[in-house]
Amino acid sequence: ARAFAAPDELGDLAKAAPFAHAMPVLGAMKPAASHSGRSPRSGRTVMTDVYSMRQHKARVEIVKGLKSTVFTYAGCFPGPMIKANRGHEVVLEHHNELDNPTCTHLHGGRVPSKYDGLPMDVVGKGGHYTYRYPNKQRAASLWYHDHSHGTEAENVYMGLYGVYLISDEEERRLPLPKGQYDLPLVIRDARIEADGKLSFARPIDCPHMLVNGKERPYFKVAARKYRLRLYNVSINRNIKLRFADGAEFVQIATDCGLLEGPVVRDEIELVGAERAEIIVDFSRYRVGSSIVLENTAALKERPEIMRFDIVREAKDRSRIPDRLAEFPSLPKPSREREFIMTSDPTFLINGKSYDPKRVDVETTLGSHELWRIKNIDSPGHHKPGYFIHHSFHTHLAQFRVIHRNESPVGPGEAGWKDTVSVPPGESVCIAVSWSGYAGEYVYHCHHLGHSSAGQMGRVDVKPR
Ligand code: C2O
Ligand code: CU
Repeated sequence: ARAFAAPDELGDLAKAAPFAHAMPVLGAMKPAASHSGRSPRSGRTVMTDVYSMRQHKARVEIVKGLKSTVFTYAGCFPGPMIKANRGHEVVLEHHNELDNPTCTHLHGGRVPSKYDGLPMDVVGKGGHYTYRYPNKQRAASLWYHDHSHGTEAENVYMGLYGVYLISDEEERRLPLPKGQYDLPLVIRDARIEADGKLSFARPIDCPHMLVNGKERPYFKVAARKYRLRLYNVSINRNIKLRFADGAEFVQIATDCGLLEGPVVRDEIELVGAERAEIIVDFSRYRVGSSIVLENTAALKERPEIMRFDIVREAKDRSRIPDRLAEFPSLPKPSREREFIMTSDPTFLINGKSYDPKRVDVETTLGSHELWRIKNIDSPGHHKPGYFIHHSFHTHLAQFRVIHRNESPVGPGEAGWKDTVSVPPGESVCIAVSWSGYAGEYVYHCHHLGHSSAGQMGRVDVKPR
């Protein structure tokens, strides 16, 4: 079954020429204030950066020449990038000036429950909420996004997402590309009508691909190595990235930070919310040439995601070390659990729809568990416009993928993760470590159309 409509079915919408505008580089937001204080618990000095964001609508140009109304954090689409340091606290004050209730989740963040942005912890128009993020975790490419119960898909689709990077000593010591050569690429699909309206639509009806808020942009690069932090923030779509010439690149990180060692690849698939970091060496191309990054999961007629134009020479002292990180060995799991993901007649986990009052999993802080996640839909089971590929995500915990259909996973998936692909008919085993904070959290499908429909469960973490 075909997962995407053909361009002619989408009319003129799909016919706009690609590479009409430059990809914006995401700028880091400046803290409104920074201070240091003594932690009453540890007695240690804690640095705190304070940020404040108003959530409001704005008019932006996504497709060249058209204005679209989107939801924004602080007027930016995507939201402003936050750069945090391990062990330094970030305080983020959100003011909701939208008409609908919102809450903000730090995806991949190890955060106390009351700052986690749980589905029911929403604030309405005119309200505000202050989140405190301890950032006591490894360097990683995280993101923040809306999580309001039942409406997260639409709110994220309309623009409520932004990049959140944590950096640490371990990462800074490595000779990887830095500064202007270290770029987040936030990729998603969308449907922009002929009058510019961004309409909330199923993936089959979304002909547009956006990188950092622009439809299939170009970007000028130097003939040297770049670190690209790839994000799929599409609410229901998988993307499979490769360069048009099949060129190899090197994967260095998964969702929750650096891999143990670099992995050479020529294609990378990301389900909703999944991230990967790659090093691309543009010195293989002549100055004056271009290379297109494609999505091979899209229609053959329209594979472009963006184009890199190689415009100058540049010095490059960066290199990719053979060892990137040390992983502690995985403790023996204390118990096993099974999660059956279904899509028909609606999106469920273990036959249940999310009920914030029902505890689906009770676990203990510090415990290690084996979770087996099964997508029991067969690959052939497909209604038009209907995605049965799932993206499993847990809050608080990070995990390692142990096996897929009883076989060990590939090296590109062997790092620390918070989101894992669960294709139809497959069974994925993950080792989950519950560390951080006791309290209420959730796990869910990160194809947000599915989680909004109820494909989510509640996990309560008890103190040990
Ligand atoms: Cu990225 Cu529960 O979310
Ligand atoms: Cu799903």
